[in-house]
Amino acid sequence: MERVYINTISGHEGKEVTLKGWLYNIRSSGKLIFPEFRDGTGLIQGVVSKNEVDEKVWNDFNDLTQESSVIVTGLVTKHPKKEDTYEIQVKNLEIIQIAEPYPITPKEHGVDFLSDRRHLWLRSQRQAAILRIRNELVQSIREYMYNNGFILFDTPIFTPNACEGTSTLFATDYFDLGKAYLSQSGQLYAEAGAIALGKVYTFGPTFRAENSMTRRHITEFWMMEPEMAYYDIDDNMDLIEDFLEYVIQRVLKNCSKELKSIGRDTSKLENVLKPFPRITYEEAVEILREKDIPLIKKTENGEEHIRPFPFGEDFGAPHEEAIVENFNKPVMVHRWPAEAKAFYMKRDPKDPKIVLGVDVLAPEGFGEIIGGSQREDNLELLKQRIIEHDLPIEAFSWYIDLRRFGSVPHSGFGLGLERLVSWVCNLDHIREAIPFPRRPNRITP
Ligand code: 4AD
Ligand code: MG
Repeated sequence: MERVYINTISGHEGKEVTLKGWLYNIRSSGKLIFPEFRDGTGLIQGVVSKNEVDEKVWNDFNDLTQESSVIVTGLVTKHPKKEDTYEIQVKNLEIIQIAEPYPITPKEHGVDFLSDRRHLWLRSQRQAAILRIRNELVQSIREYMYNNGFILFDTPIFTPNACEGTSTLFATDYFDLGKAYLSQSGQLYAEAGAIALGKVYTFGPTFRAENSMTRRHITEFWMMEPEMAYYDIDDNMDLIEDFLEYVIQRVLKNCSKELKSIGRDTSKLENVLKPFPRITYEEAVEILREKDIPLIKKTENGEEHIRPFPFGEDFGAPHEEAIVENFNKPVMVHRWPAEAKAFYMKRDPKDPKIVLGVDVLAPEGFGEIIGGSQREDNLELLKQRIIEHDLPIEAFSWYIDLRRFGSVPHSGFGLGLERLVSWVCNLDHIREAIPFPRRPNRITP
């Protein structure tokens, strides 16, 4: 008997096949049992008729519990009423294991209960669909990069220095060499790669010791960072636009079933076509002031609301939401006050208080998904910034070297994969965007 997967079942109508999977659900009515099977690629309903199977098969079905592993043989038929739906008329059943009472049932469970059982929660249809969408996004990102001449350039996770500021570093002992830090970003290494290879990208896990319990932060996340020699900030924004359009349009095409199954309204994603609005930080602040959105500062006895929104401050979730509200596409906010951004960003030649950075804010209130910039390419200015930011200059000597030997204008950006997945899937919380999320209060399972 041919072993088939549920997602290809339509090609086997009228044939007898074997499915290898698990029991998802089961109900019976008199002389019929309706077991639902999953095999990792989808769900299918079986029909077991008492008159048509051996007594042993009938009795075995009565012993089956949720998530028992089974191999089923039967005839593939079209569902009598539902379109594009198939059933399997079961002939035979082989039990691999009878599962113990399964803790996750179709009833509602609290999120802590589910998070403690993430290793099992992943089997639910919604979680599996999200992870398939994540897979498609990763594949399309890699394909875009490959097709556009970017070279994959893997950067180290153990690093001797900070990239995004020292406050969010995880440290670990490293033999006789003192401390190593888990990478916050592969960017500095990618810059070496861009000078060596022209256009590169790094795509790997990154770590931030931010004690942020928000819906958008995890301590370990995957970041994709392209870096390009001879690209200025405008070239960088052109690339971001072209890249995001490609990725979103492709996931719409290739994951329509999964997006539908998780209830995503895709009309908003269909809009993600070039060009995207480009506004300066100053214009974004204007929007906040018009909408009277204050800066909220935590103080000893609560919160202070500062109006009008002060120039120079970074945006939080309410600000990002207010800025994108008027647009139905990702918004690129560029030219930021230097004090709000990292040491490596190049100053705007027209205004030394401004850096050539860009943040991409996703629509529908999902906030920042991309941060990027043109890099400081002047040796003396870069050294000065490292000192101003109180960073250990010796640890950066190799990075500074890049400005000594063939320095050129160059740019790049970083895309947070789980932020992208959260937006595409319209998730309430980033914890569903990665198989095993790491947060300040969770390192298990
Ligand atoms: O804006 P960030 O900090 O930029 C960088 O790391 C640059 N070195 C990137 C570059 O230019 N090569 O982070 C980039 C993106 C953010 O826009 C966000 O999508 C994601 O990484 N990100 C996080 N995602 C989940 N949890 C966190 N704690 C995140 N911090 C950043
Ligand atoms: Mg950022």
